[in-house]
Amino acid sequence: MYWKRLSTTEINATIKKAFDRNVRFGRSKVMGLPISSMDPRIFHKEVVQQSPFLFAMMQNANHGGCPTQGISGDFFEGTEHLENEAIQLCAEQLMAGKPGMQDGYIAAGGTECNVQAAWIFRNLFKRKYKAESSQIALLHSEDTHYSVWKIANLLGIKQVVADVHSTTRQIDLPLLRKKIRQAKKEGIGYFIVVANMGTTMFGTVDDIDGLTLVLDEEEVFYKVHVDGAFGGFTFPFTKPKNNLNFSNTKVTSIGLDAHKMLQAPYGTGVFLIRKGYLNYLATTEPHFMAHKIHTLSGSRSGANAIAVWMILRAFGSKGLQAKVKRVMDLKRKMCAFLDKKKIEYIHDEHMNIVAIHNRHMVREIQHHYNLVPDNHENPTWWKIVLMDHVNERMIQDFLDH
Ligand SMILES: Cc1ncc(COP(=O)(O)O)c(C=O)c1O
Repeated sequence: MYWKRLSTTEINATIKKAFDRNVRFGRSKVMGLPISSMDPRIFHKEVVQQSPFLFAMMQNANHGGCPTQGISGDFFEGTEHLENEAIQLCAEQLMAGKPGMQDGYIAAGGTECNVQAAWIFRNLFKRKYKAESSQIALLHSEDTHYSVWKIANLLGIKQVVADVHSTTRQIDLPLLRKKIRQAKKEGIGYFIVVANMGTTMFGTVDDIDGLTLVLDEEEVFYKVHVDGAFGGFTFPFTKPKNNLNFSNTKVTSIGLDAHKMLQAPYGTGVFLIRKGYLNYLATTEPHFMAHKIHTLSGSRSGANAIAVWMILRAFGSKGLQAKVKRVMDLKRKMCAFLDKKKIEYIHDEHMNIVAIHNRHMVREIQHHYNLVPDNHENPTWWKIVLMDHVNERMIQDFLDH
């Protein structure tokens, strides 16, 4: 994995050049669409011109459609090129995809990435294999983000929820096999698999090889979406050789959240999928902009796409690796202390979450450090997420309690 970092001057110049290729409200005559800049009476020009991101916000580029399907060549083509580059860096460098073989766009977040993937796969099963909705199920662990429960409801499909071991939080594969056999008896033959690259509560990374082996042995149709909303900008740095990316032919799509570890503004999920699959979203109904058919969102924030590009380029791969290393070093120190004190905790060795058992916690600490439990009514675990703003002093202070 390698991409180059750019200096602030190079970043600012590139963004300026990109905007010079867009329509510019105030300069170009934009009269045919319901688009405009942000209101200059509220968002003052003098302030925003100091910062390329605020400038991009103010310019209000609308990136409709999917940049990897071809730049529209109209209103916002300059900044769409930057989105395209951000998608390529994520797909090809971070997620080991072959050059030019992935599509993607900056989505609203991890939820949209999960919905988009499941929607594509449901349509594929229906269109290609003539499956009925009642024959399709989402398959995921019980620790998977609640967005998958939304998806089952939205798409009208069933769920097969895999149990996990109480401390490793890994899927119980023999039990999963039984559940798949039961689902087959009930007429389900098509599975939309969501594999976690870091669960929300424990940061656990699913054993994708174990999971797909069971599915292969059970001879069912399936497609795998990797949910990297939490771990997508951590795990590839802590375990560069891994199987939850496009080097694994069993992975079809991946979702990442730039608004978590990457610290981009909210509204920056990164949806990635192998080429050829977006067609399953194509509608046959008339549409007024031909390129808008491949994304769940219609209008999307160009400024958010630029923010992702800026962060990727300002750090370069080596800079991001160093950022991840810092929080992982902090986690290791914390775990060594917990071991010494014989405090029970769970963590995935490649991820930056430590979940501490409830019996070691008092309400005052939970409140003081804004900790979150696995279950609000009956907590067993409380998680500590080692993000960029968490430093050694904070951790030491917490451990001294
Ligand atoms: C693993 C996982 N998937 C999906 C999501 C949903 O992401 P978003 O809130 O960006 O929609 C989250 C959010 O915490 C998450 O941790």
